[in-house]
Amino acid sequence: MSNPTKPINVVVTGAAGQIAYSLLYQLAAGTVFGPDQPINLHLLDIPVMMKVLEGVVMELEDLALPLLREIVPTADPAVAFKDVAAAFLVGAMPRKEGMERKDLLAANVEIFKVQGEALDKYARKDVKILVVGNPANTNALICSHYAPSIPKQNFSAMTRLDQNRAQAALAARLNVQVDQVKKVVIWGNHSSTQYPDAAHATVTLQGSTKSVPAALNQDNWLQTTFVETIQKRGAAVIAARKMSSAMSAAKAAGDHMRDWWMGTKPGEYVSMAVFSDGSYGIPENIVFSFPVTIEPRGQYKIVQGLPISEFARSKLTVTANELEEERTEAYKVLQKK
Ligand code: NAD
Ligand code: LMR
Repeated sequence: MSNPTKPINVVVTGAAGQIAYSLLYQLAAGTVFGPDQPINLHLLDIPVMMKVLEGVVMELEDLALPLLREIVPTADPAVAFKDVAAAFLVGAMPRKEGMERKDLLAANVEIFKVQGEALDKYARKDVKILVVGNPANTNALICSHYAPSIPKQNFSAMTRLDQNRAQAALAARLNVQVDQVKKVVIWGNHSSTQYPDAAHATVTLQGSTKSVPAALNQDNWLQTTFVETIQKRGAAVIAARKMSSAMSAAKAAGDHMRDWWMGTKPGEYVSMAVFSDGSYGIPENIVFSFPVTIEPRGQYKIVQGLPISEFARSKLTVTANELEEERTEAYKVLQKK
């Protein structure tokens, strides 16, 4: 356990970009690592973005927040990853309208090789790594491959935005506040094959808690419109904004790391893309989104024993297959370089 008065080093890559712009405030304000944990922010971007990054640094200074100690803007991974306890790997090209996230593999996978090597050399061995840059699951796999001295369990990719989207969509359908819906699960890839699963979700209505499928009594909607809406939500935001989601992605990144750092609430679970250990029959050596619970300052544990219907099984197979294909493609790209 770290000494709460000693600052921890936290790196954010893509620090001059859109998501970082919303994420950095949360980190500096203490909503992720807690109100007693000072932090040094290491901000990595590419050389042409250093001028923009200077402006971000000025704004961080002007926040006048006491938990924020040193700010280290840099284009050098050796400096950025030095002794970091937490890493937000955001820096990567975002997709444009008409692209699938896996179309970014060729452009982005090399970044995660380089950053994996830098994590291996310079980061703390207990560093918690969250990959946000797309295709996030496969980038996390590649990053870990090039950081063999860091345990695989320390790598994760973000499906929390999908979880938040699913929770919000269910709450709207049930006409309740979003925090009354719990235990919705995102399985698989952060892509259009993900399976948002409300079968185990609960809702609290007028003080009594029941299962979401029972409360809705509409399995058809849960298996069709709900699933498709969440799978395509990222594309819908791009179509409207002409840029990919940023505010909601930053919030989800903060949620993911806060729960990993501080632990999940008793009786609840959250979705994180982590190395498959074969749970639920998912092949190993892919980074797959599972429901997890986390002890404060502890490791995540994949929730075991959730019943998987035939419908759910078919969805899990599709998304696992896609991750295996992405893995093959990523190693092909890296071999060509
Ligand atoms: P952006 O283009 O606004 O910012 C990306 C930043 O990364 C830029 O400043 C760029 O210069 C920097 N960068 C590029 N290569 C880098 C490198 N090698 N090292 C350090 N920095 C580098 O993009 P954004 O909107 O912030 O999105 C970032 C990534 O996050 C994209 O890949 C996007 O698709 C992804 N994303 C993921 C989720 C998710 O739920 N997992 C959600 C939203 C966006
Ligand atoms: C999202 O889900 O909003 C992001 O992954 C961006 C995208 O490409 O969809």
